[in-house]
Amino acid sequence: MPDQSIAIVDERQARLEGIALRVGSCQLCALHLTRTQGVPGTGPASARLMAVGEAPGEREDREGRPFVGAAGQLLTELLEGIGLSRDDIFITNVLKSRPPGNRDPLPEEVAACAGYLDAQIEVIQPRVILLLGRHALQRLVPGAPGISSCHGQLVKADGRTYMPCYHPAAALYNGSLKSVLQEDFRRLRQHLDQMEADAEPKAAAPSSQGAEPSVGAEQLDLF
Ligand code: URA
Repeated sequence: MPDQSIAIVDERQARLEGIALRVGSCQLCALHLTRTQGVPGTGPASARLMAVGEAPGEREDREGRPFVGAAGQLLTELLEGIGLSRDDIFITNVLKSRPPGNRDPLPEEVAACAGYLDAQIEVIQPRVILLLGRHALQRLVPGAPGISSCHGQLVKADGRTYMPCYHPAAALYNGSLKSVLQEDFRRLRQHLDQMEADAEPKAAAPSSQGAEPSVGAEQLDLF
């Protein structure tokens, strides 16, 4: 009998590839005039974790893949530090095209690109969306407090679960942020493990004795 779960993942992968094709030919904002190519994102449709950064930089624009420069190396190191491989997670950005000179995204560019990120999230349905820096936080959780007050905590909004953290590039300029990021990634791992355990079918009804795991202890509920 054919494995239905494989068919569903294949269908979701095909939808992701469709989004990537649309990014490749996108002309919804002026960035298409200056970019080398669109950078839709990489990773499997079955990813439990999705990481969202700001926008492609020079190297990403050249190679067509997100987070392949210095900030990307740190992201890879942080993921490997908690036993995750880049290949297991879906990595993308708020903007799919490089802003010239790596300037901040403009509001009209963020708005023009919004449909692609929304569609990727809809297809992947990740357990947690890691928000790398303030642009990802503002885009997906508008009205959230600043990164410095909510990094490393789970934020629930619009039925999704987010974890904001500092952008890895910030730790390249301010070395003290690297240990903050490492600690936040350690918490992320704990939350993912807990979610995995909660999703497993229970063999027996839980005892009323004993401590319930406290995923919510560090959780912010917004909206
Ligand atoms: N590379 C990316 O792909 N995104 C960023 O936000 C920074 C570097």
